[in-house]
Amino acid sequence: MLGAVVSPEAIFILILYRGGPSNVFRAVLDSHQVLDYSKTHDVYTNLSLFTQAPNEETMPYCSAQSPIFVGPLTITFRVLPSERMIIKKNPFVQSGGRYRPPHCLARYKSAILVAYRNQEKYLHHLLYYIHPFLQRQQLSYSIYLIQQVGNGTFNRAKLLNVGVREALKDEDWDCLLLHDVDLVPENDYNLYVCDEYYPKHMASAMDKFQYILPYKSFFGGVSALTPEHYMKMNGFPNTYWGSGGENDDIAARIRLAGMEIVRTSPHLGRYKVMDYNEEAETREPWRRPTTRHNTRKTWKDDGMNSLEFKLLSKTRHPLYTNITVDIGYVPPFS
Ligand SMILES: *[C@@H]1O[C@H](CO)[C@@H](O)[C@H](O)[C@H]1NC(C)=O
Ligand SMILES: *[C@@H]1O[C@H](CO)[C@@H](O)[C@H](O)[C@H]1NC(C)=O
Ligand SMILES: *[C@@H]1O[C@H](CO)[C@@H](O)[C@H](O)[C@H]1NC(C)=O
Repeated sequence: MLGAVVSPEAIFILILYRGGPSNVFRAVLDSHQVLDYSKTHDVYTNLSLFTQAPNEETMPYCSAQSPIFVGPLTITFRVLPSERMIIKKNPFVQSGGRYRPPHCLARYKSAILVAYRNQEKYLHHLLYYIHPFLQRQQLSYSIYLIQQVGNGTFNRAKLLNVGVREALKDEDWDCLLLHDVDLVPENDYNLYVCDEYYPKHMASAMDKFQYILPYKSFFGGVSALTPEHYMKMNGFPNTYWGSGGENDDIAARIRLAGMEIVRTSPHLGRYKVMDYNEEAETREPWRRPTTRHNTRKTWKDDGMNSLEFKLLSKTRHPLYTNITVDIGYVPPFS
């Protein structure tokens, strides 16, 4: 998709995805001060410049690069934003957390899918930052929360399968962004659009890992797949309970389905991790989990084609669509 956009910036971003820094991209980045993390900007900077076009019928396509990009963003979790305040600061966000740029026709449609359970503080911080972040990129988007009921062990991968199925009923999304609730992107050049060819891992540099990948096949945190990528690998496994193990299975599925993982450059794929200790799962130490499943044998039978769940409700909150599901048998939390 990016390949279709002809602009120097689009080309340099492609170079970033595919390999190390080149002189071309360094020159562009210097001139934009995109990577100077000692100078950060408020995520709402100049967002009010996007105002309603007088005539929607004759609205032009959005510019290939957003005119209000600032690069590094100021992220802090010290003050908990209220729901009312977030709504007020995002007047163009419609019911269900749906947004279309008011001033231009979006070039991309991205669905943000967040597997969720009882992490309200995380959620408020995420919404406060992610709504303006996506609007800065001139995307058409929706935010989906997929909530697991009950006290059983969390199953992030299965919840995301549910989210993909439900989100695609609403809209023909170009890109599915699978997003942890406790991660906030630090640079508005980290584009929430898919790679045309391969699944893209976005969270390549998190502050809690000192901004390096914890291990080579890591695919956790935030990733971007087109619906075609997602179906080609039969989605995510439904059978991983607890956090962590599913990510290695997913990385293996990508390869088994004949694809590769591309990564956002660590200069741009920087994320801040929230550190409230609300949920047992998020407190578990991050380590490479041992593989318990034989992915090579199971991936074709365990995934989107075997997905079963009970949809309990799908409601439109002002800032997100709330999908609540009973995902069936859940091993007791141990
Ligand atoms: C915000 O927009 C104004 C007017 O276009 C511009 O002068 C200013 O540099 C912008 N601020 C940032 C931080 O980009
Ligand atoms: C979940 O756990 C809480 C606290 O331990 C308990 O009060 C509640 O009844 C449990 N709910 C279910 C559905 O088991
Ligand atoms: C989502 O909907 C369920 C069912 O209506 C509700 O119990 C829950 O509080 C909602 N969650 C959020 C985060 O809005």
